[in-house]
Amino acid sequence: MSSFEQRNAHFDRLFATRNLFWLGQNTNHLPMHPAVRKALIESIEAEEFHAYAPPGGFTALAHAIVEDLGLPQDTTTAVVTDGAVAALATACRAYCEPQTNFVTTDPGWKWPMQFARQAGAQVREVPIYDAAVGYRLTPEKLNESIDQKTRIIYLVDPNNPLGICYTRDEIIAFCNSARKVGACLLHDCTYRDFADDHVLAARFYPEGAITIYSFSKWLGLAGLRIGAVVAGRTMIERLAAYSTATLGSSVVAQRAAQAGLAIKKQWMADVQRIQRRNQAAIKKQVDAIPGLLIPVYPSQGNFVIIECAALGLQPEALAAVFANRGIMIRQGSYHTPRFGSRFVKVSTAVPTEWIDAFCQQLPEAIEAARGLNEIPELF
Ligand SMILES: Cc1ncc(COP(=O)(O)O)c(C=O)c1O
Repeated sequence: MSSFEQRNAHFDRLFATRNLFWLGQNTNHLPMHPAVRKALIESIEAEEFHAYAPPGGFTALAHAIVEDLGLPQDTTTAVVTDGAVAALATACRAYCEPQTNFVTTDPGWKWPMQFARQAGAQVREVPIYDAAVGYRLTPEKLNESIDQKTRIIYLVDPNNPLGICYTRDEIIAFCNSARKVGACLLHDCTYRDFADDHVLAARFYPEGAITIYSFSKWLGLAGLRIGAVVAGRTMIERLAAYSTATLGSSVVAQRAAQAGLAIKKQWMADVQRIQRRNQAAIKKQVDAIPGLLIPVYPSQGNFVIIECAALGLQPEALAAVFANRGIMIRQGSYHTPRFGSRFVKVSTAVPTEWIDAFCQQLPEAIEAARGLNEIPELF
């Protein structure tokens, strides 16, 4: 089997596992809101999906996304995409080329680095897995890493996997740095709704910030594949030309997204209460096991990382043991070859029973992981 086929077979097996506890991809598995269910069913029953949606998405949805972000409607446009990942690919294709560079953090999210390289750009990763810098990018480190050839500064905020969120002052400093060298600030806000206080770069750098929006994590539509790229009118002209959704994104997904935005306030209050409760349950259990540590708590995303290196434990071994028990968690190496041997990541926008099962099994799983000789390949 080719390595692509192996990777595909891995995720196919996960999908086929009955009652799998999905704690590995930060997807939201809480039962959907009745208004979202109604929108999905109505769209399917009306068989709206026979037609292509507009290339930038339904206007009402695009406006609702801009409104949700609190950005000015008269100068901002949202283009609906097949998830945030397609929005990120579009931005990289539009702005990266040979002789340019793309600057991001390590750890961060790996696929945009691949898109940037494919477009010919050099990728520069700034290491931030360090308690001394608060596990965050500092304006000084950013300034050392950028130059006139920097096309994109890719900021995952809140950071996946670390769970930190940047302050207003930090965002302003990053915007000033980007403006100075004429780079885009690609602000990946996939997890912003789980943060206590998230600040959009687009507020301070409207001419150069690109906001990446996802419906996968807050609303739980990961499998429907819907997100957006949001920017000022001039940038959108360029971005839209590189979008692969020339025939529009899923009609059914867009109806669900719009229904979700209409009930967002109430929905997110419930989601946030549950996922922070889940974070607290994990923290309590981790604190009771010497050698384990949660470096960032509470996480501003819907996940936490657990350091297990002090136990002499390979994250892959722990992930493999949990996989055998029907619980998917993520090994750190998915995010970062450099720091991946330190931690596993557990997602928290899930039913409380899933987290309680994880916590209850953790001590035993650690013992089992210690004795594991052969670790299957994980992705
Ligand atoms: C930082 C980050 N950006 C984007 C995505 C992808 O989001 P979507 O499902 O909307 O494509 C993920 C998914 O894990 C992510 O962690």
